[in-house]
Amino acid sequence: MKKVITYGTFDLLHYGHIRLLERAKQLGDYLIVGITSDDYDKTRGKINVQQSLSERVAAVRATGLADKIIVEEYEGQKIDDIKKYKVDIFTVGSDWVGKFDYLNAYCTVKYLDRTKGISSSELRQKDRNLTMGVIGDVPKAINKFQSEDKYVNGICITGVCSKNIENMNDAIQKLEFNTDKYSKLLKNTDSIYINTDLEKHYELITKALNEGKHVLCESPICDNDKQTKELFKLAKQKKLILMEAIKTAYSTAYQRLILLVKAGKIGNVVSIDAVCTDMSKADQDDYKVKSFQNWGPNALLPIFQILGTNYKDYRIISHFNDEEKTQDSFTKIDFVYENATASIKVAEGAKSEGELIITGTKGYIYVPAPWWKTDYFEIRYENIVNNKRFFYQLDGEGIRYELVSFAKSVQGKEKADNIEENVSLAISKMAMNLKNKKKLIEI
Ligand code: CTP
Repeated sequence: MKKVITYGTFDLLHYGHIRLLERAKQLGDYLIVGITSDDYDKTRGKINVQQSLSERVAAVRATGLADKIIVEEYEGQKIDDIKKYKVDIFTVGSDWVGKFDYLNAYCTVKYLDRTKGISSSELRQKDRNLTMGVIGDVPKAINKFQSEDKYVNGICITGVCSKNIENMNDAIQKLEFNTDKYSKLLKNTDSIYINTDLEKHYELITKALNEGKHVLCESPICDNDKQTKELFKLAKQKKLILMEAIKTAYSTAYQRLILLVKAGKIGNVVSIDAVCTDMSKADQDDYKVKSFQNWGPNALLPIFQILGTNYKDYRIISHFNDEEKTQDSFTKIDFVYENATASIKVAEGAKSEGELIITGTKGYIYVPAPWWKTDYFEIRYENIVNNKRFFYQLDGEGIRYELVSFAKSVQGKEKADNIEENVSLAISKMAMNLKNKKKLIEI
């Protein structure tokens, strides 16, 4: 019996896939189809896959062409599979010509002509053709964000609203709807990404939602939880997505870390310590440090997501650079929960180790600096032989995943649950507390 094997993602199964499977089957008597797992796809940069692994498996099974379906989970698995199943022929489409020649050492490799004019990427693009306008004045941040849209099918940045466009990258300069008028940008795009001063968020979001535009906004959404609540309500009324942009929340490693904690891997959580410091802008002449505004939401995220938002008490300790007390160069917030404690330390005018430690009754999770760009973490126990290390690919500092999540939310008409509404409200509330100097100790 001649055994044939082929691999693919098979997202939104299409005519090109079916033709490939038919021809693969004809090469022998028994066809094995390897379907890539979501995690493996992410590690090879395929982050847009629309269907879950089980949906993709079901679609391939329904063709009736596969005698056996397996899941491809790791680099190098093809060799293992070929040996394990005693495969005679390995085949894939001609877009891979040359890439799998190394498998000739184990079986015959055949590339089949790719069917022209169709691909999963195109289908995904067709489904979600969301245009996005960006508003903000800091070139570095806007450049970084804009350069990520090419990795995300179905989302396209078409204009920037800024007084600073001439200092942004070439790709931005060429966009069709660049403007210094927000209303013009709104008119020409389906959605808006807001990366401006916090004081402007409320007005900009309200305007966008009232004009029927979806919104992705840097955190905190407002420095007032009532306003944030009102905006979420407005978004719901208008059947629009309002999503908070904290990159960390969309990274695979961070999401897995939260799941492991919730699954009890370190026992009951008794303490969380999150530190974020960044002095990269401190030496710019006119830079106004805003440690909490720029880093507080990130640091609060794991605390509110793990311990919840019903803390019993808190205390803010800040050092300010100015008399008006708007520029906190250092802020520390301590929380007391029923059965736990937590603290954040954020600074743009001081340096410390940017790590995250989650202390549990059985062990702890350690995420090394800079933890907010999480791609790696460890679970550590008293007995070090039980320690475990976890690594997950992180591309584009997480912006890419944030965009994928936003596009999926808009398409599915339901906000992704990466940042729950109560967490957003608690973040806004803490921004308000600092602004109103509530429970604040100055140092
Ligand atoms: N394939 C094909 N003809 C097409 C599309 C895909 O023969 N028009 C083949 C690929 O060469 C591969 C298999 O189908 O052997 C699975 O491909 P996959 O990457 O899942 O599909 P694509 O449509 O190429 O997906 P994407 O656009 O995400 O790359």
